[in-house]
Amino acid sequence: MKAEVVVVEQSLEQNSVRQPEGAPSADLRPEVPHPARMYDYYLGGKDNFPADREAAERALAANPEFRSTARANRGFLQRAVRFVAQQGVDQFLDIGTGIPTAGNTHEIAQQVDPQARVVYVDNDPIVLTHARALMAGMGRGRTDVLQADLRDPAGILAAAQVRELLDFDRPVALVLAAVLHFLPAEDKPFAIVEELLAALAPGSYLVLSHGTADFLPPEVRDRVTGVYTKATAPLVGRSREEVRQFFDGLELLEPGVVTVPLWRPEEEPAEGSDRVSMYGAVARKS
Ligand SMILES: C[S@@+](CC[C@H](N)C(=O)[O-])C[C@H]1O[C@@H](n2cnc3c(N)ncnc32)[C@H](O)[C@@H]1O
Repeated sequence: MKAEVVVVEQSLEQNSVRQPEGAPSADLRPEVPHPARMYDYYLGGKDNFPADREAAERALAANPEFRSTARANRGFLQRAVRFVAQQGVDQFLDIGTGIPTAGNTHEIAQQVDPQARVVYVDNDPIVLTHARALMAGMGRGRTDVLQADLRDPAGILAAAQVRELLDFDRPVALVLAAVLHFLPAEDKPFAIVEELLAALAPGSYLVLSHGTADFLPPEVRDRVTGVYTKATAPLVGRSREEVRQFFDGLELLEPGVVTVPLWRPEEEPAEGSDRVSMYGAVARKS
């Protein structure tokens, strides 16, 4: 689980999921559903293989709201990143990046401050392939990508890309959007977040969203969980109180831990927004 620089040996053409059926890299394990590619499918993307689509369809059959939850999560991520950038933070460490889609962290942050620096971290090689291609097209240097596992926070913090791009003597926004629910208790997710936060300077921010089963009937929760047990990572919903504990020791900003559409919405939230299965919040380290 050591952090390492991803070396994209295949051309984007080969790895691109625009042609998912064509000879993919063995690393991509196309026969096993990956959360990143399932999420891409929920968002209407094409960067997924048949096994991902099948698993995603089973999850959608159990809970048709998965799709709108994924969209609501993207909306939260974008509002939260914009907010943090507007507070003057110009460095972002986004772990569990996901396959690039509209409104990625660097796009939002650099709309506010073109000098903003972003390091993307994900453990799924397909995410890195796409992220690298995206970076190549937009002038490298202020955005970089790292293939690493959230369960190795020390490796992430020590990685060359992170050290070269981010100055830890100044505030950094740590973005953990829709990723911690892939870490069961035995992976010690709370200790991991604590370790990452400990490395950040005062004035840093934590942007975090997390799946929950608080609003799901137990049989729906069990069906959804069942789909992800066959994927590369399990899905562990946490309660609002458990999600709040990730922010221990930080100044939790208004409105606190809420379902993602209710975090500083820019338009009237749709009906049922208070029962979306994803919590989100932003906090500041003082
Ligand atoms: C649901 S997507 C979220 C994408 C994006 N952060 C967002 O909120 O739109 C979760 C991402 O976390 C990544 N991921 C899951 N477990 C991980 C781990 N242990 N370390 C690093 N990345 C992980 C997946 O590969 C996937 O890209």
